[in-house]
Amino acid sequence: MIITICSTKGGVGKTTLTASLGAILADFGRRVLLVDADPQPTLSSFFNLAHQAEYGLVEFLVQTESSGFISRTEIERLDLIYSNDPEGQLRDWIRDAVDGRVRLKHLLNRLDYDIILVDTQGAVGPLQDAAVAAADLLLTPIPPEILSAREFVRGTLDMLERLKPMALLGAPIGPMRGLIYRMDRTLDARQIAAELRSASYGPSKGAITILDTVIPATVVYRESATHKTPPHRLERHRKGPTPSALESMTSLARELFPDLPEVLEASHG
Ligand SMILES: Nc1ncnc2c1ncn2[C@@H]1O[C@H](COP(=O)(O)OP(=O)(O)O)[C@@H](O)[C@H]1O
Ligand SMILES: [Mg+2]
Repeated sequence: MIITICSTKGGVGKTTLTASLGAILADFGRRVLLVDADPQPTLSSFFNLAHQAEYGLVEFLVQTESSGFISRTEIERLDLIYSNDPEGQLRDWIRDAVDGRVRLKHLLNRLDYDIILVDTQGAVGPLQDAAVAAADLLLTPIPPEILSAREFVRGTLDMLERLKPMALLGAPIGPMRGLIYRMDRTLDARQIAAELRSASYGPSKGAITILDTVIPATVVYRESATHKTPPHRLERHRKGPTPSALESMTSLARELFPDLPEVLEASHG
């Protein structure tokens, strides 16, 4: 199962979400691979590495190396293909290669993981296209405070519409799950969810589903990056009315993967 975390905007929380979701799925016993498809390698250094591979995304994609590109994070069962394309040259390579936009999909499908999570840059371009085309499912964080429902739906539908012909190349664009992300306690989550659902229902004909889980805006997600530790390991108990990171991330993981085990495999903190 390949999930690409994407958005037509930057700074909405894609990388934090990718890292947090990957880590909790690994703690639930799943074998997870993170793929950093952003030239700014934020995901690549989100966690400490137990093993740094010789190669990264460039060699994986361009030379189709058969080994040497899997790094291991300090978190058990959580691996990484790091980004090593600071100049953004992959973009041009993907654009010019005959199989450019579908190669990532085919190469990732060869790998033996339960779940692969691909983080993207949040800027339209060939690398983002390749990451979206690779996905069985698209996950998009929606910031309730800066985007109106219509703006989100329009931008996202434009992207899905533009990539529709990928189906002819054997890479049909997967269904999309919208996640209300960085929810402010002063806002009404249910009202925003209802607005998003009604805005995305008609034109997309169900292409976008808004998840029931809502991820709050709390400092633990920022501390997670600072401490290089998954938020659910940092904060396991509810503080006041806001759900803990453990509760929020478990809810999200279960909504995406209903067959997860009852309890976390790894117990920390
Ligand atoms: N749930 C959250 N609550 C509060 N801050 C968050 C949350 N998720 C992410 N952030 C912060 O928002 C900023 C942007 O997040 P990031 O994951 O880098 O976004 P993107 O990858 O979309 O550019 C970072 O400073 C991050 O720590
Ligand atoms: Mg990012």
